[in-house]
Amino acid sequence: MASEGMDKGRRRFLVSTTVVGAGGAAFAAVPFIKSWQPSARAKAAGAPVEADIGKIEPGQMLKFEWRSKPVWVVYRTPEVLEALPSLNGNLRDPDSLVVEQQPTYAQNEYRSVKPELLVLIGICTHLGCSPKYVPEVQPQPFDPDWKGGFFCPCHNSRFDMAGRVYTGVPAPANLKVPPYTFLSEQRILIGVDPQGAA
Ligand code: FES
Repeated sequence: MASEGMDKGRRRFLVSTTVVGAGGAAFAAVPFIKSWQPSARAKAAGAPVEADIGKIEPGQMLKFEWRSKPVWVVYRTPEVLEALPSLNGNLRDPDSLVVEQQPTYAQNEYRSVKPELLVLIGICTHLGCSPKYVPEVQPQPFDPDWKGGFFCPCHNSRFDMAGRVYTGVPAPANLKVPPYTFLSEQRILIGVDPQGAA
C-alpha cells in the first residue's frame, strides 16, 4: 500500500511535470507554429515568401528561405556597382547569357531589378554547397586580387558581387536569381514575377 501511495504520488508528480512541460512547450511553440508551420508547408508547395528588407544597410546581406532554399538579398554600394564591368574579362558568363540562371527582367549588367539590390539563391552551381559572402575588397587566401563577392569553400568557386562565376573554378554557371517582385520599397515577394514579366 505504501508503495501504491508512493506510485500515486510519483504519478501525480510525473503528470504535473508533463503538464508543466507541455505547457511550457506549448507556450514556446505557439508563435513558432503560427509563424512558420503553415509557411513551411507553403514553402514546400512552392508558395512565394514575403521578405522585409526595410532595414537593410549598404553592404549588408539578409537571408531568407524560399522552397527550402536560402535566398540572399544584398545591398550593393555605388562603388560595388561601378566596379562590376571591370571584372568581365575574368568571368565565365559576364553578360548572363545562361538564361535559366535569372528571369529576363534580371538579365542585365547588375542581374537585378533595382541595381543596388541583388537577390540570389545561395546555392553553389557546382555541387550545391552554400557560398560565403565576402564583400571586403582585399586580398584573400583564396584570391590575392579579391574584389568582393561570394566564395564557395567546398571546391573554391568564386562569384562576383552580381553572383557571376569566375573562370577557372569548378562551378559551371552564375548563381541563380529567383523570381521576385517589389511590393513596396521595404518588401519583396520571392517566388513571383512582377506582373506582366516573363
Ligand atoms: S560546391 Fe561550390 S565549389 Fe563545389
